[in-house]
Amino acid sequence: MRTQVGIIGSGPAGLLLARLLHLQGIESVILERQSRAYVEGRIRAGVLEQGTVNLLREAQVAERMDREGLIHDGVSLAFDGRSTRIDMHTLTGGSTVLVYGQTEMTRDLIQAHLDAGGVIKYEAPAVAVEDFLTSQPRITYEEAGRRQELTCDFVAGCDGYHGVARKSVAADKIRLFEKIYSFGWLGILSDTPPVDEELIYANHERGFALCSMRSHTRSRYYVQCDLDDQVENWTDDAFWDELRRRIPPQFAERLVTGPRLEMSIAPLRSFVAEPMRFGKLFLAGDAAHIMPPTGAKGLNLAASDIFYLSQALIAYYGQNRADLLDRYSDACLRRVWKAIRFSWWFTSLMHKFGDDPINRRLQLAELDYLANSEAARTAVAENYVGLPFESFE
Ligand code: APR
Ligand code: PHB
Repeated sequence: MRTQVGIIGSGPAGLLLARLLHLQGIESVILERQSRAYVEGRIRAGVLEQGTVNLLREAQVAERMDREGLIHDGVSLAFDGRSTRIDMHTLTGGSTVLVYGQTEMTRDLIQAHLDAGGVIKYEAPAVAVEDFLTSQPRITYEEAGRRQELTCDFVAGCDGYHGVARKSVAADKIRLFEKIYSFGWLGILSDTPPVDEELIYANHERGFALCSMRSHTRSRYYVQCDLDDQVENWTDDAFWDELRRRIPPQFAERLVTGPRLEMSIAPLRSFVAEPMRFGKLFLAGDAAHIMPPTGAKGLNLAASDIFYLSQALIAYYGQNRADLLDRYSDACLRRVWKAIRFSWWFTSLMHKFGDDPINRRLQLAELDYLANSEAARTAVAENYVGLPFESFE
């Protein structure tokens, strides 16, 4: 089989790339290890930066997002029984975020791409990427138990942290940065009205908590837990009781609880691979970088990588330009490291790190400073709404 761009992974990165290329008449084939139902069933975050929203509109998959998404002007930080609101809209001169589940976004992208005749091969795991330092890269994959080969001009490794694309690169050609946190997030999804109109990030001596939502009737909550904790250890009531303890009384009093639709534990890590391009192989999204979900940057960084990669490939096929392909990795990494820094800072401020009392004093002092400094809140707002996609022209 032959195509122009071979894409491994039908997550947000791979799907958005295929869609943007398709709209410019550039052919691609997506190889996805899982089934369509599995991919569409994954519970993931859903806070979209303006840049991501604009890209989804450009990809002409925004109709349901614009109809059902919730625009948020602000976010609250809770600590010491009180909370301070970061008025992002005012502090950034009008920028906001849109709450729309990644699961919904993925479904919209899959439907639009297949309706337009796009090719997505499900249950077709890629085994390896070869010859990507030559002019004819190949992806070997399995389909119906048989080994197949896809030759292409370019390979986009959008196969996440555990994928094969990055692993196909020789160890001496890639530099990996990693930080693993000693705790995780226990999350619950419930058909209950959110405790507040906007998100609440809570710092508490018992650990972090987050109050989020998917709609006005479906909520998503998280509490910091030990890495070796198990979902089986938590009844719904135990979760709700712990959440109530960690959020200020004015929110705890009005928390509506209900049975879980889903409960899971997510580990926290920061990870970056440098560079993000190896000849004809381009890494994008979680294949190249992962960060703690504090600040909801994972999905938005996948989108910004695709902002750059789609432009570079469109310039190559449209104007025979290779210069943007050459600048892809640097352009992405400049934005990636800023998001990694913000996620690390926000995680350090809001989570419980061991029992050293000075940690907590420092966190509370910084939160009190934030509550009283417009300049400090502006810095948070700028990063939370998303730093601009710097042009790499
Ligand atoms: N062959 C084919 N597909 C693969 C392979 C493989 N060998 N390995 C992994 N995949 C698929 C996975 O099944 C998954 O569907 O690649 C896809 C990667 O998608 P994501 O993990 O969603 O990664 P990405 O598209 O980069 O999106 C990043 O997803 O995990 C969240 O927080 C993260 O929001 C961020 C976003
Ligand atoms: C979510 O809604 O799942 C969510 C929101 C914000 C985050 C992380 C997760 O920072």
